[in-house]
Amino acid sequence: MESLLKLIRQRQSARTIFDSKKRISKTNLDKILEAGSWAPTAHNMQNFEVLIVDDKKKLEAIANLKNPISLTFIKENYQQMSFSKEELKKKGRGVLGAMFPPAWRKPDVKAEDLVGEDHNSFMSEEIKSSSALAIVLYDSTKRAPASEGDFLGAISLGCVMENMWLMANSLGIDFHILSALSEGTIAKEIRTMFNIPEHLKIAYSFRLGYSIAPVKYLRVRRKISAFKHMNGYDTKKS
Ligand SMILES: Cc1cc2nc3c(=O)[nH]c(=O)nc-3n(C[C@H](O)[C@H](O)[C@H](O)COP(=O)(O)O)c2cc1C
Repeated sequence: MESLLKLIRQRQSARTIFDSKKRISKTNLDKILEAGSWAPTAHNMQNFEVLIVDDKKKLEAIANLKNPISLTFIKENYQQMSFSKEELKKKGRGVLGAMFPPAWRKPDVKAEDLVGEDHNSFMSEEIKSSSALAIVLYDSTKRAPASEGDFLGAISLGCVMENMWLMANSLGIDFHILSALSEGTIAKEIRTMFNIPEHLKIAYSFRLGYSIAPVKYLRVRRKISAFKHMNGYDTKKS
């Protein structure tokens, strides 16, 4: 059991360039997908399909798609940012501002601040370097019963993600989830490119591969005491 907790603690986001010459073997890819298939899903609806892209030209085509960043994302992202490791450690949640392009790290960023910034290619080199990109599709026809907005269906997709992520990391394969391919024009273009039917929505995508440099960055979590409420909600914690 201790080794399971160790694996859970060591699972991490690899926002890094992967060695594009290294492939993910079919055996390992299938292990990752099998781990996903054994995830709990509400009503066992298994409300997902997974599209794997490992063709270099197709990966490049995805990486080259224009992906303008939304101002809403930048503004809300700013609220969660920490500007030093000390600040991040103290908060125990959120991410370091240094992860993002400088223009994104302004409290009152405006559309004109982003002109000339190369946002379209944010993560594009990372995508190109992937050994494989998995696009997880939410199947709206496999709804969990009586779940408003299919909230339970969304939780299910998270369970699938975690199983696949843990399996990949346990095999020494780096994993990087990307939300950016799920919305807006880029999602439409990917839908067309890969012939994705209308009833399927891109839920999230993830890159798989082997990082060139070790993945190492400050990862923080809140202490258990900060979110544990015993026998009643403690309003001093939030
Ligand atoms: C639903 C979901 C969406 C995420 N989207 C992104 C994303 O688009 N890009 C990214 O780099 N990380 C993304 N992440 C990763 C989180 O930022 C990351 O898990 C968190 O910062 C904790 O870091 P860790 O994974 O290394 O523990 C996402 C995670 C989840 C669960």
